[in-house]
Amino acid sequence: MMSRYCSPLLRRISLQQLVRSQFSVPSQAAASKLTSDQVFARESRYGAHNYHPLPVALAKAKGVHVWDVEGKRYLDFLSAYSAVNQGHNHPKIVQAMQDQCQVLSLTSRAFYNDVLGEYEEYITKLFGYDKVLPMNTGVEGGETACKLARKWGYKVKGVPNNQARVVFAEGNFWGRTMAAVSSSTDPDCYEGFGPYMPGFDIVPYSDLGALDKATQDPTVVAYMVEPIQGEAGVRVPDAGYLQGVRDICTKNNVLFIADEVQTGLARTGKRLCIDHDNVRPDIVILGKALSGGMYPVSAILADDEVMLTIRPGEHGSTYGGNPLACKIAMAALEVLEGEKLAENAERLGKIVRSELSQLDDNIVAAVRGKGLLNAVIIKETQQYDAWQVCLRLRDNGLLAKPTHGDIIRLAPPLTLTDAELEESLGIIKKTILSFL
Ligand SMILES: Cc1ncc(COP(=O)(O)O)c(C=O)c1O
Repeated sequence: MMSRYCSPLLRRISLQQLVRSQFSVPSQAAASKLTSDQVFARESRYGAHNYHPLPVALAKAKGVHVWDVEGKRYLDFLSAYSAVNQGHNHPKIVQAMQDQCQVLSLTSRAFYNDVLGEYEEYITKLFGYDKVLPMNTGVEGGETACKLARKWGYKVKGVPNNQARVVFAEGNFWGRTMAAVSSSTDPDCYEGFGPYMPGFDIVPYSDLGALDKATQDPTVVAYMVEPIQGEAGVRVPDAGYLQGVRDICTKNNVLFIADEVQTGLARTGKRLCIDHDNVRPDIVILGKALSGGMYPVSAILADDEVMLTIRPGEHGSTYGGNPLACKIAMAALEVLEGEKLAENAERLGKIVRSELSQLDDNIVAAVRGKGLLNAVIIKETQQYDAWQVCLRLRDNGLLAKPTHGDIIRLAPPLTLTDAELEESLGIIKKTILSFL
């Protein structure tokens, strides 16, 4: 989370750098010829300082590779925070997008269109739920899940009006809206943005006792949780945790909402991360790789008892479920299934963890993850931290992003080949060992 937020200190530094750099901002005609430094300066001058990007200016991508404006090639080990699981510009998704955008792209939900139903049937049958509710961004998926849980609480569970509570795990991250920051335990996310949304409670992650206690409150309608906490630094819960969550939610008549926006869609070596534990949540939130990086597409899945508590006019979005998004999502899902990307992630992930856990423990404190969602925890010293390691990885041709000062997430596109993995591991090992 910290990595995606520009602290006041960093903001001051980048502004000073900008002033020092004294770049004249080039005309639009010359835009394609910008140097990396000019790209940084222009963004800093005209854009809000709400991110602190690694200094690399990208101009092109294909598969697992990206190129900067000077033409240098990198292996992408972030995959746009797991949105590009299918690899950059996957030809089947590009084709679906090109075909549909020339025919019908947006109707709004004021009218029917001839693609939405096809997508709804496809995705619900694939994941085994009665209904889907399409939205655009991951955070809208989370908002939709919370709204739906509240509605279910009032209509089905019988919670007195306006008293519904939703429980979240400490360390959660589900986006930047007012509701999402209201449930956050990271001061970078919530500080300065109050007053906060009422009716949210926090329990420690991977603590079944605390969850049981919190959800016995009869006004609690849902527990929303990531099967692995991605932004918190790839925190993997204890074995049996998700089965325990399912049992407790059932016992206490509380909806189990799985936020699979980052962990879902083959990233962790199964179609959904919860599939590792064979549990079935009441609501699943999907986003990111649901479009393979082409377009903001998100969705929530649920059965009729829950989904049909929301009635016409009570929720929606102008772009949600538009024909272009639906075609892109179907193509994105077909690529994941057809190319067996979950199996590839499972197999290559085991190699990543076994190779990197052999690195000198004077510098690597731990390696953890599932499938191709992994993290290396760096022992911070006076000389270096994860940011410095990422800068050197970049210099050596691989892009990754630090989180929380000492954690580097490694999440390449799932189309990675054995040869590309070997090259990547060579770069990572060489880079980390260069700090010894
Ligand atoms: C688990 C999880 N949920 C939700 C979101 C929010 O997705 P978006 O940025 O598309 O709104 C994220 C983003 O990183 C995420 O990791």
